Amino acid sequence: MSEYVVAGCGIIGLYTTFHLLDRGIDPKKITVLAQHFPGDESINYASPYAGGDFSCITDDDPKTLFYDQYTYTNLKKIQKALGGPACGLDRYTSTEYWDIKPSKEKIDSLASYLDEYKVISPAKYPKGVQYGIQFKSWNFNCPYFLLNLKVYLENNGVKFEKTILTHITQAFISSHTKIIFNCTGLGSHSLGGVNDSNVYPTRGQVVVVKAPHITENVMRWGDDYATYIIKRPYSNDQLILGGYMQKDNWTADTFKDETEDIISRTTKLFPKIIDKNPNGDKLEILRVVAGLRPSRHGGVRIEKEVVGHNKFVVHNYGASGYGYQAGFGMAYDAVRLALINDTKF
Ligand SMILES: Cc1cc2nc3c(=O)[nH]c(=O)nc-3n(C[C@H](O)[C@H](O)[C@H](O)COP(=O)(O)OP(=O)(O)OC[C@H]3O[C@@H](n4cnc5c(N)ncnc54)[C@H](O)[C@@H]3O)c2cc1C
Ligand SMILES: *[C@@H]1O[C@H](CO)[C@@H](O)[C@H](O)[C@H]1NC(C)=O
Ligand SMILES: *[C@@H]1O[C@H](CO)[C@@H](O)[C@H](O)[C@H]1NC(C)=O
Ligand SMILES: *[C@@H]1O[C@H](CO)[C@@H](O)[C@H](O)[C@H]1NC(C)=O
Repeated sequence: MSEYVVAGCGIIGLYTTFHLLDRGIDPKKITVLAQHFPGDESINYASPYAGGDFSCITDDDPKTLFYDQYTYTNLKKIQKALGGPACGLDRYTSTEYWDIKPSKEKIDSLASYLDEYKVISPAKYPKGVQYGIQFKSWNFNCPYFLLNLKVYLENNGVKFEKTILTHITQAFISSHTKIIFNCTGLGSHSLGGVNDSNVYPTRGQVVVVKAPHITENVMRWGDDYATYIIKRPYSNDQLILGGYMQKDNWTADTFKDETEDIISRTTKLFPKIIDKNPNGDKLEILRVVAGLRPSRHGGVRIEKEVVGHNKFVVHNYGASGYGYQAGFGMAYDAVRLALINDTKF
């Protein structure tokens, strides 16, 4: 009896499913359909390639600020449900710098809820920086956390089925299916039904290095670039170095010149990576990967569509570069919309 079908098993589909359980929906009434599941890798599956931490990457419109805040303040609930930090979700200090000072709305919002928040004194800014803050972030071991989230949901009775959808209506897998959540990320660009031409990729490349001596995050936001260093928890000392934000670029290949540029920018921003490296000035590169952030002109789409008598699709996609850090708030909104006319809730 699949009353609820979640299409897509990236972080957005999994957060949405977790939130359905939070709202008291019987897990046995939920099926997750997807082409790719945790453990799989594909350029069409963004979630395993995220850095991923909670950062100040997002915009400053009220909805996005809410999605960030909701996620930040509710992650401890997910961490606890999954058995603690060893699920691949832990906390480290983040230092963030901007070349252009962010808006008052953004700063006020962050200052109101981030733990251990403080503004860095301008004397300490790298050259060209206008503003800097420090706070306690959430760090994800993305591939491992995805897997643990799926196992948790599966153990609670949620069904997972591998399927390639060519049309939206295929997600109505039984006559009992009432609500479909469309969490297909970049897939929404070409899926049959309502092809969303506002969806586009923002390509990133990251370099994963071994760095037992780094246990914090550092980032710098420029006008047309982003440089970041993210500690990956419970990963045998992996550190993620990035990055790139290439709009409308579908390339899955990785490039040596981009790897070199990333290493040069990150070690300049945070010299400790090299200075305190146990292997001297030679960094051990474990992996180089490219990923496509599922972006959308007009921002994320969280909308309810009536597609038949008592049949609805709730769209929840377009998380771009912030699925982990804002996605639980997106899930809250999507589930709220889904259940709004359901008298039981
Ligand atoms: C390099 C890089 C760094 C990033 N760093 C961060 C970070 O630090 N913090 C952060 O919050 N975010 C980060 N992100 C962004 C984050 O990865 C994305 O926002 C998030 O993964 C999007 O999740 P999603 O579930 O929407 O999409 P996806 O993970 O792409 O999942 C889509 C799902 O839909 C399924 N699907 C699609 N089409 C179909 C179909 N036709 N039939 C069946 N199934 C289908 C897929 O198989 C998959 O299961 C980063 C991304 C990249 C690339
Ligand atoms: C919509 O998606 C389908 C399935 O991928 C594809 O065949 C079709 O060409 C797309 N249409 C448009 C207008 O992009
Ligand atoms: C998801 O939304 C997109 C864009 O509206 C649409 O093309 C696609 O068919 C939808 N997919 C599902 C499974 O709902
Ligand atoms: C995509 O990015 C790669 C790497 O930066 C670059 O070589 C390529 O030319 C880009 N492609 C397009 C279509 O912009």
